[in-house]
Amino acid sequence: MLDKLNDVESTGLDALQAVQDEAALEAWRVAHLGRSSGLMQIFSQFGELSKEEKPVVGKRANEVKKALEVAFGAKAEQMRQAALKRSLEQEQLDVTLPGRRLPLGRLHPDTQIQRELFRVFGEMGFQVYRSREVESDEYNFQLLNFPVGHPARDMQDTYFIEAEGRGDNPIVLRTHTSPGQIHAMREYSARDPQDPPSVRIILPGMCYRYEQTDARHETQFDQLEGLAVGPGITFSNLKGTLADFARRMFGQDTRTRFRASFFPFTEPSAEFDIECFLCGGKGCAVCGGGWLEIGGSGMVHPVVLKNGGYDPARFTGFAFGFGIQRIAMLKYGITDIRYFWENDLQFLEQF
Ligand code: PHE
Repeated sequence: MLDKLNDVESTGLDALQAVQDEAALEAWRVAHLGRSSGLMQIFSQFGELSKEEKPVVGKRANEVKKALEVAFGAKAEQMRQAALKRSLEQEQLDVTLPGRRLPLGRLHPDTQIQRELFRVFGEMGFQVYRSREVESDEYNFQLLNFPVGHPARDMQDTYFIEAEGRGDNPIVLRTHTSPGQIHAMREYSARDPQDPPSVRIILPGMCYRYEQTDARHETQFDQLEGLAVGPGITFSNLKGTLADFARRMFGQDTRTRFRASFFPFTEPSAEFDIECFLCGGKGCAVCGGGWLEIGGSGMVHPVVLKNGGYDPARFTGFAFGFGIQRIAMLKYGITDIRYFWENDLQFLEQF
């Protein structure tokens, strides 16, 4: 019996040497430690042994079992380590590879231009005044001297919002930033109605029109309005301010031009053009005749001053307004205004 145990031990340990993979290891376990293994057969024949043999064979049998189990455990651990080493070598993580870049956001070209405009007008003493986008007919038109039914309203096709019972004063999405003139003047003049302070502000923001869209027209667009009110403000101040703006924005040699026009809320009124800085006024595909149309301007109409709480006998003022996207299009050579709000990253990432 003892010989048999020695044999079980040495064949078991030898066979374990040859084991190469998980499946072979499991087969080895069944063959050498399993229920029908040689070792277990010896255990089951225990009853046939004599009293003297039992302790000797029992001790040896337990030693062999222990030896096989320890060898099995060591082999299993050794194979686990080998597998780990293999996977570390084969599936190497290259820590020297550059990391994946996080997509970085940036300012929308419209915001960039607005900030530049704020800087330029800020240097000239203008403060930013924020005004609402949802307006009433009264502010968008009536207080700006467009009475109900006035034909000049037709220049600005409008989004009206259904709200019962408002009669001649429906809610509108503002068609221009000019209603902010009234809000601002009323706020300023309320501070000291007898002696209202001077105003020197720019009013940026989104405007909405019921437009047929094309490369130069979009149903939403940003305007920049300017307003200066005070004693003795003249048309020369308006011209000087806009000429100075054009030079600061587009370069020292840039010239400006005024053309007589009409707006109900300014008198006299003028459109203003900037000499094309792309061709230097010679005429090119962008400008046509050498001048770029920028926006409208004029002296604040007495009725508008009065509606804002400023006595037209003591105060005068000028106002102007232009499309911010138009400026951005000129500055960056953008050929279609509809790109601005399409949210196409291929467009936005260029700025
Ligand atoms: N609000 C006018 C428009 O949108 C522009 C303008 C502003 C004209 C201020 C004169 C003075 O067409």
